[in-house]
Amino acid sequence: MDSLFIKGGVPLHGDVTVSGAKNAVLPIMAATLLTPELCIIRRVPQLSDVEFMGEILRSLGAEVRSEGDTLFIQAKAIRGIGDYELIRKMRGSICILGPLLARLKKAKVSLPGGCVIGSRPIDLHLKGLRELGAKIKIVNGYVSASTPRLLGADLFLGGRSGPTVLGTANIMMAATLAEGITTIESAACEPEVVDLANFLIAMGAGIVGAGSPTITVTGVKTLHGVDHEVIPDRIEAATFAIAAAATNGEITIHGARPDHMHAVLDKLREAGVKIERRGATLTVRRGRGLKPVDITTLPYSGFPTDVQAQMMVLMALSPGISIITERVFESRFMHVSEISRLGADIAIEGPSAIVKGGKPMSGAPVMASDLRASAALVIAGLVARGGTLVKRIYHLDRGYENLDVKLRNLGARIERVEE
Ligand code: UD1
Repeated sequence: MDSLFIKGGVPLHGDVTVSGAKNAVLPIMAATLLTPELCIIRRVPQLSDVEFMGEILRSLGAEVRSEGDTLFIQAKAIRGIGDYELIRKMRGSICILGPLLARLKKAKVSLPGGCVIGSRPIDLHLKGLRELGAKIKIVNGYVSASTPRLLGADLFLGGRSGPTVLGTANIMMAATLAEGITTIESAACEPEVVDLANFLIAMGAGIVGAGSPTITVTGVKTLHGVDHEVIPDRIEAATFAIAAAATNGEITIHGARPDHMHAVLDKLREAGVKIERRGATLTVRRGRGLKPVDITTLPYSGFPTDVQAQMMVLMALSPGISIITERVFESRFMHVSEISRLGADIAIEGPSAIVKGGKPMSGAPVMASDLRASAALVIAGLVARGGTLVKRIYHLDRGYENLDVKLRNLGARIERVEE
């Protein structure tokens, strides 16, 4: 299993280009199941999650092939069974359920199982599909869904923690081929949902309102092939911006969508970070000194939970007290104990982390618990005095394209080591 060895203390300098968004490309790959025609997806990041999704689509009968950062997927004839061994590897795979049901009227997909950032139920996905007319049973760890026909409905998808991103994706995809009109209230507004909607619209779907809490889908009989470019990864861009500020460097991030990053850029500025924005380019450097800030993670357009761990490292460097409150995934603080091993002073109080910033960090071996926690540990390692070994980086390879290479190009002393 690979680890990353980082010698900290080098400010990052230079230019970096953002890859396509992981959280956009995964549901878009699932959406190719809605048509027997060829779909072309461009700006696809090379990630193990993308490979897993490709394997899942192949196991369903689709042809999947890649050339550089372009994916060609054709789901001419498919079967509706998503196996446990593949589905359990990646929660995002649950979004094959909606398209399979819409196309075949029958699907059996393994329950995705738990994950370290929280229990991650799929009750809202199932509620939405039931309201479209599906009969759903859970037997032997599988969701079995079937219906003679899907019928449009008015449905409310809000849950205890607000809207659901993949739940919205699943229902929106199922509704594209349903009879009549579906209205999704309390829909997720994330840019990745909008990108999926644009993909579906280009396939011939009738969708309005994506990006707002009310999405209306007018069902059509068939969908056709499409050629689509995925949006840039706002979480990756935010990770680089934080790394530049944390290491006291200056980097220019190209190919970003700053209009998808308002909450993060606003908090970085409040923390004293200098950001210049020119079109799709962001130049980021630490200002005179870092200031503590309070953050609450929320559904879009609030501060993203996927940037919480990385921001915590910056807060740990800012003299004073910062409070981070997690409102999307209640147990998403697994990284705290590992960041603390490098010298940060962080206490958990219910859904909040209290960060007493400004303590020096020094390198140590640390263990990554999930994708964004791994990114936070890498940023901490870039700052800490001495060497930091980040273990279990397969999490990073799931969601960041060549992070070590991109950081090395910015001057970081970072090596991948086999253990
Ligand atoms: C997606 C993202 C993930 C991000 C998350 C929140 C992908 C592949 N993953 O995950 O990176 O951290 O959005 O922005 O796009 N919930 C329920 N019932 C459900 C579904 C969700 O109660 O049926 C709860 C969850 O436990 C959580 C909240 O709703 O508390 C939001 O989760 P959700 O938006 O569904 O996350 P994902 O779509 O799985």
